[in-house]
Amino acid sequence: MPGVITLLPGDGVGPEVVAGARTVLDAVSRRFGHQFEFREADIGGCAIDAGGTPLPAETLSACLSADGVLLGAVGGPQWSDPAARVRPEQGLLELRRAMGVFANLRPVATHPALYAASPLKDRLLAGVDILFVRELTGGIYFGDKTRSADSASDLCSYSREEIERVVRLACRLASGRGGHVTSVDKANVLETSRLWRETATRVARDEFPGIRLEHALVDAAAMQLIQQPARFDVVVTENMFGDILTDEASVITGSIGMLPSASLADSGPGLYEPIHGSAPDIAGRGIANPCGAILSAAMMLRHSLGLEAEAAAVEQATWETVARGIGTADLVAPGAPAITTRDMAATIAAALDDDAAVRRAIA
Ligand code: IPM
Ligand code: MG
Repeated sequence: MPGVITLLPGDGVGPEVVAGARTVLDAVSRRFGHQFEFREADIGGCAIDAGGTPLPAETLSACLSADGVLLGAVGGPQWSDPAARVRPEQGLLELRRAMGVFANLRPVATHPALYAASPLKDRLLAGVDILFVRELTGGIYFGDKTRSADSASDLCSYSREEIERVVRLACRLASGRGGHVTSVDKANVLETSRLWRETATRVARDEFPGIRLEHALVDAAAMQLIQQPARFDVVVTENMFGDILTDEASVITGSIGMLPSASLADSGPGLYEPIHGSAPDIAGRGIANPCGAILSAAMMLRHSLGLEAEAAAVEQATWETVARGIGTADLVAPGAPAITTRDMAATIAAALDDDAAVRRAIA
């Protein structure tokens, strides 16, 4: 099948990990006989340097006209002056808004191969398989902002429709998993959270009778994620709580470098990005872990291109490689030999060419 994929390498380690994902997508097209068409465009700090704006009009149109968009990362210290007029992150936020990707899916699952790298004890790690569904285009990120010399404000607002559509998606996704949704809010303090809770309750009750919905306050949920991570199945929450909780949860797995994300709209292309960010401290050294980007590409195959078997094969090839003890520096034990970003991607691509691995994935 043909598919138009826009690559947005961005800043920091973004170009390295996106190149790794491209290597794996090329292996997918060879192995399964697809013809992907790749386009590349600037976003973030590199776009500011090139033309003064973090989301150039050409980039946005290359995204809106694609089937899927794979982004590396944006940002870095050279663009972080708080007084700067434009920031790389504005490009990403504007892209999310313009693409209408209101639901950000962040799967967080533990894997025995990485237990040793997790700060939590093994007994807490068994069976952790959480799907975060973070609302991505509303809330405090997008509310009106004010600033004077000695005061500032950020408005947090949600409409009923914005809550309904993301809760509905979370419930639908939970139906295909454990059937358990935890809706996270701060309903003891925030009015937006009271609307959130009321709306989530109604959507689950009226539209998803088979789903077990529970509510949790965000501060308590933050503790439970560490004390009992295996108790969660699907977690749905508003934009900023989701930003914070998913960074917290990523640490549980042992490497933030493994974690993908998918941002989905009602229709139109999805936006896929590893959650690790631009990692300026290791950028340009060829040592970043490409797996977050590769697994994001797998989510793109699944959610935007309808290629479920291909997505499963990429996931299988990635985890089999890690389970063989092969990895970039963040994945192997201190002192053990690590391979480069490029070799990691090439090893996963080679695993995709191996019939047995692909058969196991699509069985
Ligand atoms: C994320 C990031 C972004 C966010 C930043 C870069 C704007 O932290 O994707 O989680 O806060 O959404
Ligand atoms: Mg974040």
